[in-house]
Amino acid sequence: MSDDREEAVALAYNARSNDDLRQGYDGWAGGYDADMDRRGYKLPGLVTALVARHIPLGDGPILDAGAGTGLLGEWLTLAGYKDLTALDLSQGMLDVAASRGVYGTLTCAVLGDQLDYPANHFRAVASAGAFGVHHAPSAAFESLVEITQPGGHLILTVRSIGMEEGGFPQEIARLEDAGRWKTLETLGPFFAFRDEPESLYMAWVFQKI
Ligand SMILES: C[S@@+](CC[C@H](N)C(=O)[O-])C[C@H]1O[C@@H](n2cnc3c(N)ncnc32)[C@H](O)[C@@H]1O
Repeated sequence: MSDDREEAVALAYNARSNDDLRQGYDGWAGGYDADMDRRGYKLPGLVTALVARHIPLGDGPILDAGAGTGLLGEWLTLAGYKDLTALDLSQGMLDVAASRGVYGTLTCAVLGDQLDYPANHFRAVASAGAFGVHHAPSAAFESLVEITQPGGHLILTVRSIGMEEGGFPQEIARLEDAGRWKTLETLGPFFAFRDEPESLYMAWVFQKI
């Protein structure tokens, strides 16, 4: 890996702000797919399996939240899903995602800010690898619930390290107690990469009430 790419990856994984994330992922975008292939990255395949278990084909729009270069969009398309929207804060990552030709719409926006989609719009929100401490915050869950159709699904992964510190279990429980969603499945912690035991993740399937 080149020094520039190594620096970008380090910035992306240790980001202290959205500017760090943007700069890190913009710098990594060109080499991201090759790196993830080499590391045996499993989350897009797993999230696709969960989507397939809960969402019939042809049922309506799906948001890929923190879509990056579009690995999940490619898996979902292979599995027969259409009407996909990508959202990410890194325009560099979204440019690679656009080149796959699998998303109808691509939006450069920040998870955690107010999102510019109509309420109750998406049949489902799916997300692979975007949430965790130093990444997209638990505070974004509420706005994702808002734009999901009642009865629709949210399939989300969170990096295990720092999960409590980032308030993820607390926010999941708060939304459940508030009657905003119910938990259908909880998976993990599991290894998201071949031979990287420190990279543990959790995944959930929620249904909006
Ligand atoms: C590890 S990559 C995962 C990308 C893709 N989902 C995949 O599985 O390959 C994390 C992505 O989340 C995006 N991201 C992190 N925090 C974000 C935030 N607050 N809002 C939007 N995107 C964010 C990053 O820009 C990056 O593209």
